[in-house]
Amino acid sequence: MTRFDNQTVLVTGGAGGQGSSHVRAFHAEGANVVIGGLDAARGAALADELGTRARSIHLDVRDEGSWSAAVHATESTFGGLDVLVNNAGVQNPPALIEDTDQATWSRILDVNVTGTFLGIKAATPALRRAAGGAVVNIASTMALGGTAHYAPYVASKWAVRGLTRTAALELGRDGIRVNTIHPGVIATPFIHEPAAGATTAIADFYSPAPFAIPRLGEPTDVTSLLLFLASSEASFVTGSEYVVDGGLLLGPALQAEAA
Ligand SMILES: NC(=O)c1ccc[n+]([C@@H]2O[C@H](COP(=O)([O-])OP(=O)(O)OC[C@H]3O[C@@H](n4cnc5c(N)ncnc54)[C@H](O)[C@@H]3O)[C@@H](O)[C@H]2O)c1
Repeated sequence: MTRFDNQTVLVTGGAGGQGSSHVRAFHAEGANVVIGGLDAARGAALADELGTRARSIHLDVRDEGSWSAAVHATESTFGGLDVLVNNAGVQNPPALIEDTDQATWSRILDVNVTGTFLGIKAATPALRRAAGGAVVNIASTMALGGTAHYAPYVASKWAVRGLTRTAALELGRDGIRVNTIHPGVIATPFIHEPAAGATTAIADFYSPAPFAIPRLGEPTDVTSLLLFLASSEASFVTGSEYVVDGGLLLGPALQAEAA
């Protein structure tokens, strides 16, 4: 018996760096998995690799019609939807607010905020039909402070916190829990490849050396927390926010070492 036997999990951006780790882990724990996203080739390859209980579905999280189709396909394939992971996300090219154009601002908020809003909206009736379930929204440690040059991304992830809390209040009585994870700096294409419109990647200027656990996070670091929050072990946890950052938010540890 594994934690997600007879349950169906939809992960947005499910073929990405963290998303594919989440999909593999839910599948290994018995779930039917739906890989939702724009990267059809990677999604299909992952579904093929997993074999039974896995399906890749085209899902553009910015589009309400795309969401309806994805939730419908999930229910018709696997008979229900129990867990939604709003993982898809994009970052802006680094720039001061005064140098950020409105199109960039809107592009980031469309995916990170509107995508999460539409996901909760589309999944709610299906989660009710399944007699309850869980939504986990992936935000960021950048949602807990300010970060120069990342205004659209920071603002979008702060908004995800408000959505999480509001959805948790609205859905708790239906047995639907809604929580947020704040990853720190995780080794995925997100930090190793420049954002659209940028020439440098986050990994080019970020070093984990000064922090409490001096390494980049791995997708599996986020996955293990996610599986806990999505599982019945967290049945009294809703509207909460969990940081998985190796102590990044604590600040540098090097001064303490020198003392
Ligand atoms: N990697 C990090 O350091 C880090 C830190 C904090 C938070 N996050 C968040 O973690 C989540 C996963 O990021 P990742 O590190 O796996 O990066 P990633 O770039 O590997 O994955 C992001 C995924 O989102 C998908 N996506 C983008 N726009 C989409 C859309 N309109 N519809 C559907 N899918 C779309 C991409 O195709 C990709 O598969 C994101 O929400 C990101 O903001 C990442």
